[in-house]
Amino acid sequence: MSSASSDLLHSLAWRYATKQFDAERKIPRETWDVLEQALVLAPSSYGLQPWTFLVIDDPALRSELRPFSWNQAQVTEASHLVVFLARRQIEESDLDRLITATADVRGQTPEQLAGYRSADDKHASLAKVRYPLAELIQHR
Ligand SMILES: Cc1cc2nc3c(=O)[nH]c(=O)nc-3n(C[C@H](O)[C@H](O)[C@H](O)COP(=O)(O)O)c2cc1C
Repeated sequence: MSSASSDLLHSLAWRYATKQFDAERKIPRETWDVLEQALVLAPSSYGLQPWTFLVIDDPALRSELRPFSWNQAQVTEASHLVVFLARRQIEESDLDRLITATADVRGQTPEQLAGYRSADDKHASLAKVRYPLAELIQHR
């Protein structure tokens, strides 16, 4: 096994879901920035990414949200709280956004990609689209 493979498995074995947090400790800004970028790179069907990550910075808002999470202390005590808002209904505007961004990556016009709206299997060959971080992550 390569060392990259064993490093990956070791990291996954080490990983655990933290239940208790020290409310005084904050993830350093530069580490948090990397985590936000990792959120933006999460895969989705067709790459549509029909979601928004709300990073709740406001402590009062976090307290308000706690009862909606079975009153779990993590909601108010963890360094950061992210609420994942996924749209369950894909709208025409989601397709417009993907087609426009794909055309941009490929140096084509959206009209040249019009066929992708109707032919499902062709989506598999869409160029990789990465939406800007600011489009998917909002702070409250
Ligand atoms: C879909 C999902 C929902 C979860 N919800 C919570 C949660 O509300 N609160 C919590 O403390 N952990 C939550 N967890 C973490 C699990 O409790 C945790 O992953 C599991 O106990 C296994 O422990 P480990 O991740 O440390 O191996 C969730 C995990 C998943 C995958």
